Amino acid sequence: MELSEDTRAILGLELPTDPRWVNLAALALEDILTDHAWCEQKAAVTCISLLQHYSDREALVFALAPVVTEEWGHFRLVLAELKKRGLKLGRQRKDPYVNALLAFTKKGGSPDERFLDQLLLMALIEARSCERFKRLSEGLDDEYLRKFYRRFMESEAGHYVLFIELAETYLPKERVRSRWKEWLAFERTVVESAEVRGDRIH
Ligand SMILES: [Fe+2]
Ligand SMILES: [Fe+2]
Repeated sequence: MELSEDTRAILGLELPTDPRWVNLAALALEDILTDHAWCEQKAAVTCISLLQHYSDREALVFALAPVVTEEWGHFRLVLAELKKRGLKLGRQRKDPYVNALLAFTKKGGSPDERFLDQLLLMALIEARSCERFKRLSEGLDDEYLRKFYRRFMESEAGHYVLFIELAETYLPKERVRSRWKEWLAFERTVVESAEVRGDRIH
């Protein structure tokens, strides 16, 4: 099922995930849950490091502190789901999607440019996660899992909005919008590449 116009407009992603990805995901549930758990862990850790690094930005600190709790709660939910199914939390695997996106951040840029890219990178990862959770929440046969992923979908959509809003709190809106468009165009090329297609969900 394609994303509704509403979801597309909200998330802004240029390329929808291949619908066949859900079939692959259903066949490899342990891998999907393991990758998912580690992605939640990374989301929590990244929020902690952002608020450590930008501790002078009060709005950011107060916005991200509860997200840390939420992401860690997600990690625990996925962990419990693995245990319930008699599956194991495997090792963290390489994440070609995030590694490809990281290469797009402006390492040598001004502090503002680096700050903006860190927030937009997080917004993008949240948006793509949300889109993939939506796919799972609509496409899996197991009704329990469909509901399970729907909860994540809603939560990650909120995070996506939060990261964009935080960027706009500290930087001019037009600047955020124009860099966001560049990120979306780049992310499209990453998703299109065969190497990473269908490889991750958060
Ligand atoms: Fe999460
Ligand atoms: Fe999130």
